[in-house]
Amino acid sequence: MPHLRPFVSAVVRPIPITTREQRIQEMDRAGHNPFNLPADKVSIDLLSDSGTGAVSVDQQAWAQRGDERYAGAESFYRFRDAVRDIVPYRHILPVHQGRAAERVLFSALLGEGRISVSNTHFDTTRNNVERLGSRALDLPCPEAAELDSEAPFKGDIDLQALRDLLTGPEGPRVGQVLMTITNNGGGGQPVSMANIEAASALAREHGVPLILDAARFAENAWLVTRREPGYSGWSPRDVARRAFEMADGAVASLKKDGLAPEGAFIGVHDSDLADRCEVDVIATEGFRTYGGLTGHTLETLARGLHEVLEPEYLADREHEGAYLAERAHQAGVDTVRPAGLHGIYLNAGTLLPHLDPAQFPGHSLANALYREGGIRCSELGSLYLGELDGEGRLTAPAPFELVRLALPRRVYDHSHLEYVGEVLAGIAKDPEQVPGYRVTYAPPVLRHFRCRTEPVRA
Ligand SMILES: Cc1ncc(COP(=O)(O)O)c(C=O)c1O
Repeated sequence: MPHLRPFVSAVVRPIPITTREQRIQEMDRAGHNPFNLPADKVSIDLLSDSGTGAVSVDQQAWAQRGDERYAGAESFYRFRDAVRDIVPYRHILPVHQGRAAERVLFSALLGEGRISVSNTHFDTTRNNVERLGSRALDLPCPEAAELDSEAPFKGDIDLQALRDLLTGPEGPRVGQVLMTITNNGGGGQPVSMANIEAASALAREHGVPLILDAARFAENAWLVTRREPGYSGWSPRDVARRAFEMADGAVASLKKDGLAPEGAFIGVHDSDLADRCEVDVIATEGFRTYGGLTGHTLETLARGLHEVLEPEYLADREHEGAYLAERAHQAGVDTVRPAGLHGIYLNAGTLLPHLDPAQFPGHSLANALYREGGIRCSELGSLYLGELDGEGRLTAPAPFELVRLALPRRVYDHSHLEYVGEVLAGIAKDPEQVPGYRVTYAPPVLRHFRCRTEPVRA
């Protein structure tokens, strides 16, 4: 049966068409950092899949009944019930976005000298751990480092390393085991149910809470139904629910699998923990029944949480991701395999061997995609993950020079992805034309969001 997209556009937005000359000028103005580009100069925006999806006509209709009363609004209860249908925890607190959920929950679980251990902390997540004086320790499974391997669950945590940590001298300092599903920092790879279950058992054995960073809980659930033996007949909803059942708490940005531009929640069983979080939420986000969100948004999310688990929607998302990965391969560009759902990760290291890591090949490829085609994306390589000295020179490279093409939900169609494939193929035909970069301004934290760079001509 041929693939049929399960939706059509109901409202459209024109996208800017720019010339190469204009884009070169824009890049100069932006300090050659895609995060500094104005969106109206970007044709295809693959910078993030967060808050960038299209809402459905049903979500718009639900939003119309947004109840904006300060406390106990009807919209809150509809939101809470939609979350609880998937996340069976006693306490659900809405907040404005994922990093607020992290800040609040981690403040209650961590502190000076504590350890947060994860399959991989996302960048803001790491920052929220470190701001508390805690250490963010990543223990990805060994397969995560094999970019070309087709291993199905490269997002897993290394269970042996987790056991060694928990039973070793640092064990008592571990404040949380944090499982990021899917593993965004680790190439968008899914985490298996077997891995969550084993991590959960280990955490329980040592009295440490297991927390899910569940920004892409539906996409993880879908890939479990597709790849994990024993789950092929399960619905994505049942898999997602089972994953939450195995944890003690969760933070989830709903800007991804909530199919809305804002929102997140904190979910926990423990009433004392919920109480501490609630005080923080009231002081910094908003009363416990809105957490900084409008009734309009709570309704949009309640409906989005339903739509995101529809198998036809998830199958389409898998299909589109696989298509873009295939186009990259046809162009001779390596990607992290197997293709995930929320983004395709290009290997700039193998495409641009004439650039050494100190010239930031990932950043070079991201900038080339903008210059040649108005496509915005960003690197996950040495500019973001490497170590730099005070002069902005690289002292320790990242393990890989990747570029993430994030896929906004329900926004771009096949022809847009075909265009991305063509621009990429044009670059890949003559990769030596792509210049390296040097850093001219490097802030001490969250560098890739804020730095400025310039091309280095050979
Ligand atoms: C895995 C993961 N956790 C947390 C966050 C933070 O969420 P937010 O952008 O809503 O603050 C993100 C955002 O991309 C993420 O990918």
